[in-house]
Amino acid sequence: MIGIIGGTGVYEIVTMGDEIDKRVIKTPYGNSPEISLFQLHGKRVAFMPRHAKGHSNPPHMINYRANIYAMKKLGVERILATNAVGSLERSVNPGDFVIPHDFIDFTKIRKGSFYDDRTVHIDVTEPYCNELRSTIKSSGDVIDGGVYVCTEGPRFETPAEIQMFHMIGGTIVGMTGIPEAVLARELEMCYASICTVSNYAASISPTNLTIDEVFEIMDRKKHDLVKLMDISISK
Ligand code: HPA
Repeated sequence: MIGIIGGTGVYEIVTMGDEIDKRVIKTPYGNSPEISLFQLHGKRVAFMPRHAKGHSNPPHMINYRANIYAMKKLGVERILATNAVGSLERSVNPGDFVIPHDFIDFTKIRKGSFYDDRTVHIDVTEPYCNELRSTIKSSGDVIDGGVYVCTEGPRFETPAEIQMFHMIGGTIVGMTGIPEAVLARELEMCYASICTVSNYAASISPTNLTIDEVFEIMDRKKHDLVKLMDISISK
């Protein structure tokens, strides 16, 4: 089974398939958001809105452990995630799709592991699933590789933070990619992300950031994003 963890604009992928069921999964960490189960290109797909119904959970309050555990419990083997990001480089433009190959974690208060009661150190030399990254890359016009910097949010970044993120090798910045990728690895699921660039990061952008411009680009790129996911799933 393929899992999709999506935000605004991605819900349309559900309506392209034959919906079978809607389920809320109970986990030791709490309940999952409502997950839609459907069939697309002869494959079983589980769609989860990361922020839950009506975008009610902001990035720092998402129950990442419940979300990932629920996917595992459903039998998901591969997770295709979508994330909105700001660009740290002038050559990476709003509207671009970036398929990150690495990340830097600047989150602060999130539960980042399933292993609280025993010592487990997972290997993240290849933090994202290269097999799934290749499938996405061959399915549309994307930027192959990039370093995803994850902040705690929910505020946007200061100019000094953005300068630092760029200096240490970051390509894009977002608030939702981690610990999702790490938790998926802990439960041995293949995980890759399609990052939609919604804006130049603070101070690279000529104007102050608003969430409205993020939503506007996400809405404008919705069709291309769903198509990219649809083709990736068909392969
Ligand atoms: N910073 C952090 N998260 C984001 C941004 C940003 O500029 N754009 C979309 N998500």
